[in-house]
Amino acid sequence: MAAEHQHAYESVNVALGERSYAIHIGDLGLGQSNLLRDLLVPHIGGSQVAIITNDVVGPLYAHVIAEALPDFHVDLYQLPDGEASKTLETYGLLMDFLMQARHNRSTTLIALGGGVVGDLVGFVAATFQRGVSFIQVPTTLLAQVDSSVGGKTAVNHPNGKNMIGAFYQPAAVLADTGVLQSLPQREYAAGLAEVLKYGVIYDAAFFQWLEANADALRERDGTALGYAIRRSCEIKADVVSDDEREQGRRAILNYGHTFGHAIENLSGYGTWLHGEAVAIGMVMAAALSQQVAGLDQAQAHRQTALIQKLGLPVSLSGKSLEPSAFIAAMGMDKKVVDGRMRFILARSLGDVFVADDVPEAELLHLLETFL
Ligand SMILES: NC(=O)c1ccc[n+]([C@@H]2O[C@H](COP(=O)([O-])OP(=O)(O)OC[C@H]3O[C@@H](n4cnc5c(N)ncnc54)[C@H](O)[C@@H]3O)[C@@H](O)[C@H]2O)c1
Repeated sequence: MAAEHQHAYESVNVALGERSYAIHIGDLGLGQSNLLRDLLVPHIGGSQVAIITNDVVGPLYAHVIAEALPDFHVDLYQLPDGEASKTLETYGLLMDFLMQARHNRSTTLIALGGGVVGDLVGFVAATFQRGVSFIQVPTTLLAQVDSSVGGKTAVNHPNGKNMIGAFYQPAAVLADTGVLQSLPQREYAAGLAEVLKYGVIYDAAFFQWLEANADALRERDGTALGYAIRRSCEIKADVVSDDEREQGRRAILNYGHTFGHAIENLSGYGTWLHGEAVAIGMVMAAALSQQVAGLDQAQAHRQTALIQKLGLPVSLSGKSLEPSAFIAAMGMDKKVVDGRMRFILARSLGDVFVADDVPEAELLHLLETFL
């Protein structure tokens, strides 16, 4: 724990050998501070910096970062907001920008924004001049607890999300709890879905803590958020350090996601946010776990109750979905191995495992009752 007069933060180390880096979490003063400078400057090797953000986040926070770096040549690039920016076309525009502004191999890119900006800028950093340093300043809860941890960077292709990318670690991650105050409510709750997921997949005590602190989290209390983000990052860092390139255990991070992806695909773009679809997906994963993995009903109910308490959906409202279409949508999902149905199931809260051979009849039973 490191502390300053007004600002307090904690750090989580992501242990990946020479690619290790720290995530600093807390009130980092993306409003005023010297602390910001102290956290950024050690990771800037040369004299050039490019802050890459979007047209929602940039106007709110880019100037604070630029002002914290008076001794550097700082360029700013603002992308249009939204997932539509995560393309090879935008990637090309960023490359043009870096070359026109004469950034060299010692430049440092700062990704300021949610997962869209982080994924895109990370991929630019991985490939510009064969790789330059980058710092993540995630500004959504989802980006702070999920997308900025683990080194996956990517852009989308018309044939699929995240189809072009690289594993590339940042030099540091600065997760400022203060910036979450300006996040729209649905986006905020969607991030809480991933936080809750960490409790279910890894840490029953953390799940209990979330139950006890759900109100504080809904109110975006800084102290509660600081702990929730820290514990989430520790858990993701633990899982990722064991399995940087997703050979095995990292798959547990996809709890609820196979169902979630199918919900997202079938409901039509924009109906559910990713985190909302994952929340419903976790309810489905728990139901399947009750059927085939011995999860007891009381624990499944606790998960549903917490999801609701955090302001997230637990069922599909409106039109029902066809089980066969749902299975097809899951089949297209990249989490299917050798054509078998693979699910992350829970034995109990805090204890999940990869089930490779879930019988189709069990899945159909679940879908018929749930959809
Ligand atoms: N790399 C990974 O491991 C990983 C993991 C999960 C998700 N992702 C990717 O992350 C992306 C989703 O990220 P996201 O949920 O952060 O979405 P996002 O980046 O689109 O941000 C959500 C919205 O919030 C706005 N916003 C961001 N910060 C704000 C702030 N502080 N105040 C006000 N508004 C703010 C954004 O402009 C945007 O409109 C997807 O592309 C997904 O594929 C990557």
